[in-house]
Amino acid sequence: MTATLIDGSAIAADIRAEIKTRVDALFEATGRRPGLATVLVGEDPASQAYVRMKGKNSVEVGMESFSYKLPATASQEEVEELVRELNANPAVNGILVQLPLPKHLNEEAILGAISLEKDVDGFHPVNIGRLVMKGRQPLFIPCTPKGCMELLRRSGVQLEGANAVVLGRSNIVGMPVAALLLHANATVTTCHSRSKDLPGICRAADVLVAAVGRAEMVKADWIKPGAVVIDVGVNRVDDPSKKSGYRLVGDVAFEEAREVAGAITPVPGGVGPMTIAMLLQNTLDGFERTV
Ligand code: GUN
Repeated sequence: MTATLIDGSAIAADIRAEIKTRVDALFEATGRRPGLATVLVGEDPASQAYVRMKGKNSVEVGMESFSYKLPATASQEEVEELVRELNANPAVNGILVQLPLPKHLNEEAILGAISLEKDVDGFHPVNIGRLVMKGRQPLFIPCTPKGCMELLRRSGVQLEGANAVVLGRSNIVGMPVAALLLHANATVTTCHSRSKDLPGICRAADVLVAAVGRAEMVKADWIKPGAVVIDVGVNRVDDPSKKSGYRLVGDVAFEEAREVAGAITPVPGGVGPMTIAMLLQNTLDGFERTV
């Protein structure tokens, strides 16, 4: 059996088109456009690329993009002061501080300084707290987990009662995606580097979300035949045949996994474009609450 490909690039393009239509209509009605501010501290090449894509995509859907770059040596006070300025700027509806931050900075304090109404990453402790509690409504849901859920929804995957396994427990993906799967009435297991028998746990999954950041760790024999596999990993591996010297692979050994899974996301072209589409959706939602 060869798995159905879940085409995140195509689904994200549809969502961006829907967002652009709404942004244009709102501009007609109000003369204003949603604004997204990105803050990058330091010069990590992967983070630079992500932030560039976020700015480019926001402009393409008709939003205003504000891009801030601070040196890796920026102080806690400098970063927090910039966040406070952006909180006060009415042209800015969403503030995204790219993670990871340099080690000397206090991430929790910086994310906590972002105005709740502009927290388009959904990482403010109040938004995360509401996300993990039953019956509470966060103002924003973190973009990558939200993108995973949207891929599952648009692919018609039944989550109610399904065994969902999340491989990885990061604040950015593993923990929030587990919360969202639980809200969708899946039976959720989170596993990680200290779990015993990772292959066995994964093999019980009807829906497997791999978010560990280890290149091609999930092999074909970790996957239940017919399972839905969402691969969140974006790992650089050396590839001398490429001009860049590397290529991107997921956390799942894609070529062998697709022979076992029922449906699977590729890397690149799966979850990645959905993360940005959800960021744009969150920015639009934030803007709509102000008009
Ligand atoms: N680094 C990796 N993923 C993300 C994300 O979704 N948001 C931010 N701010 N940083 C990230």
